[in-house]
Amino acid sequence: MDKIIIRGGQRLSGTVPVSGAKNAALTLLPCALLTDEPVTLRNLPRLADIDGFQHLLNQFGISTSIAGARPEDFGRVMTLQATRLTSTVAPYDLVRKMRASILVLGPLLARAGEATVSLPGGCAIGNRPIDLHLKALEAMGARIELAAGYVRAIAPDGGLPGGTYSFPLVSVGATENAVMAAVLARGTSVLHNAAREPEIVDLCNMLAAMGAQIEGIGTSDLTIHGAERLHGATYMVMPDRIEAGSYACAAAITGGDVTLTGARIEEMEATVQALRDAGVVVEAVKGGLRVASDGDLRPVTLTTAPYPGLATDMQAQLMAMLTLAKGSSVLTETIFENRYMHVPELNRMGARIETKGRTAIVHGVERLTGAEVMATDLRASMSLVIAGLVAEGETQVHRLYHLDRGYERLEEKFARLGADVERVGND
Ligand code: EPZ
Repeated sequence: MDKIIIRGGQRLSGTVPVSGAKNAALTLLPCALLTDEPVTLRNLPRLADIDGFQHLLNQFGISTSIAGARPEDFGRVMTLQATRLTSTVAPYDLVRKMRASILVLGPLLARAGEATVSLPGGCAIGNRPIDLHLKALEAMGARIELAAGYVRAIAPDGGLPGGTYSFPLVSVGATENAVMAAVLARGTSVLHNAAREPEIVDLCNMLAAMGAQIEGIGTSDLTIHGAERLHGATYMVMPDRIEAGSYACAAAITGGDVTLTGARIEEMEATVQALRDAGVVVEAVKGGLRVASDGDLRPVTLTTAPYPGLATDMQAQLMAMLTLAKGSSVLTETIFENRYMHVPELNRMGARIETKGRTAIVHGVERLTGAEVMATDLRASMSLVIAGLVAEGETQVHRLYHLDRGYERLEEKFARLGADVERVGND
């Protein structure tokens, strides 16, 4: 397994492009199931999770082709076509490797009237149930059966009638599955307390480009009028607001000055506010975002929440940045029950972080020291890289496959900004 060796101490400066958003791409790809016409996605990030999803879609008989991307290009163009489905089963050995596979449940059900998907199970950050996905589909008229570790969803003859569902808590994935099921229903569906993340807006905009009729895009109340059929479309994946926020934390902790081209400040307001409260300069510049700091960081109090609140996916990276703030910061993680696995590893680098349930107190220290550390999940891994960039000496981050799931050509982007990073194999 690969690892990254980082020699800390370089101030990051320069410009890097923000890649297409992983969490948008993973819900845009299954939309190809909703039509027999070609669907083309542009600005698709080169990530392990995208490759995994492509392989899963191929299982259903979807043809996929990658348009000529030069090796040095960021992002790719993929055309997908589900002329007819040869299977409606998402098998355990694929789903267990990538829990976002559950996002084929809604579109398969909508297109074929049935879907059998292995239950995704939990992951490092929590047990990640899918009860809300299933309740929303039942509200639209699906019959749900659970057996042998699989969930089977069946629509009545003639297709899903559609229905109304109020989410008891905000769920990005459940909202995505519900919307993708509703767009081909026989009637109208109404979702209350739906997730409003920009990735949901991207999904709704792409479905609208395919002919879907969705009202309330960007709000918590979505009304979807089912269509007889959807047509193909070409769609540009939105920029990754979490990748952009991650690089912003790296620029801040190293006292750097970095421009992130493609970043949309209007989709990152809570993260931008957290950075500014910590004393970081963040400004919209033509086509992107500039992040600059003198390295003097102030402590802040942060609580993660559904959009437009502070993204849980930014918690670990902001925590890494705050390890060097002049004072104690208080972070509260309200979304997942086990999202502090980066804490012991950061403390091994000299940070002083205490956790108590969902709350972490980050006591600022003078310096971090390089160490061998272990990545445990995607965003925890990035927090260790961010710490390594400023730590004295050498940091080795093991189990890089976690990072490769969500950050496109990370070592290349950091090298462009002047970091001393090197990927080595045979970990
Ligand atoms: C999506 O996961 C993202 N993944 C996550 O990003 C992100 O952290 C999360 O949304 C929250 O923003 C993708 O988009 C592929 P949820 P998802 O359903 O959809 C509970 C990353 O690092 N819940 O909004 O699984 C759940 O346990 C990843 O890129 C239920 O109880 O998140 C959690 O506590 C990590 N029942 C809360 O809701 C359900 O049926 C929010 O989960 C579904 C969720």
